[in-house]
Amino acid sequence: MKPFIVGITGASGSPYAWRLLQKLNEQGLEVYVVASETGMLVFEHEMGFSLDSGVAGLHQGTFHIENVKSFFSPIASGSRRFSGMIVCPCSMGTVGRIAAGTSDNLLIRAADVCLKEKFPLLLLTRETPLHTIHLENLLRLSKTGATIMPISPSFYHHPNSIDELLDQMMGRIFDHLGLEHNFHTRWEE
Ligand SMILES: Cc1cc2nc3c(=O)[nH]c(=O)nc-3n(C[C@H](O)[C@H](O)[C@H](O)COP(=O)(O)O)c2cc1C
Repeated sequence: MKPFIVGITGASGSPYAWRLLQKLNEQGLEVYVVASETGMLVFEHEMGFSLDSGVAGLHQGTFHIENVKSFFSPIASGSRRFSGMIVCPCSMGTVGRIAAGTSDNLLIRAADVCLKEKFPLLLLTRETPLHTIHLENLLRLSKTGATIMPISPSFYHHPNSIDELLDQMMGRIFDHLGLEHNFHTRWEE
């Protein structure tokens, strides 16, 4: 399977990012990880450990941590093939920059490449409430091919823990990437 790209931005929601990396690791997948500067800070603030140290402990998959300031990376190039990119969590700042096509750091550039190469691009957005500019940017990205997946936990499966809440979202992400999983039971009538 071709590698995945995980982008981590400075929106709240680091437990979702960490759970995603753990799940990709459990599947033994190859993953390029790129975090914005604020993404690194918010991750450490919310998780209590740095992204670098966390990823260093993941051994089943293959993880590449990319420098968001350097464009000398495979994920900056449309000549490399990827299974898709998940931006999790995705801030409204990053939504705006992807929608504007700025490509001004490696994370934004990688998302731009995914759009132009038609690789799946999943944006796990987190902000509330949303104003009109947010909504217009999201509409623009949706029309261009991105999948907008607001981080919104569900409760109909009666979660008993935060991990169960996170796994419901992980299941939705894996579904959209075409990856098999048994993270949660599916709704049955
Ligand atoms: C603790 C913390 C939580 C934040 N949560 C959000 C959020 O949920 N959504 C959002 O759009 N921005 C949030 N922000 C603001 C972004 O980090 C800020 O706009 C930043 O410039 C985004 O840049 P980036 O997308 O390159 O990471 C938060 C900032 C901090 C410090």
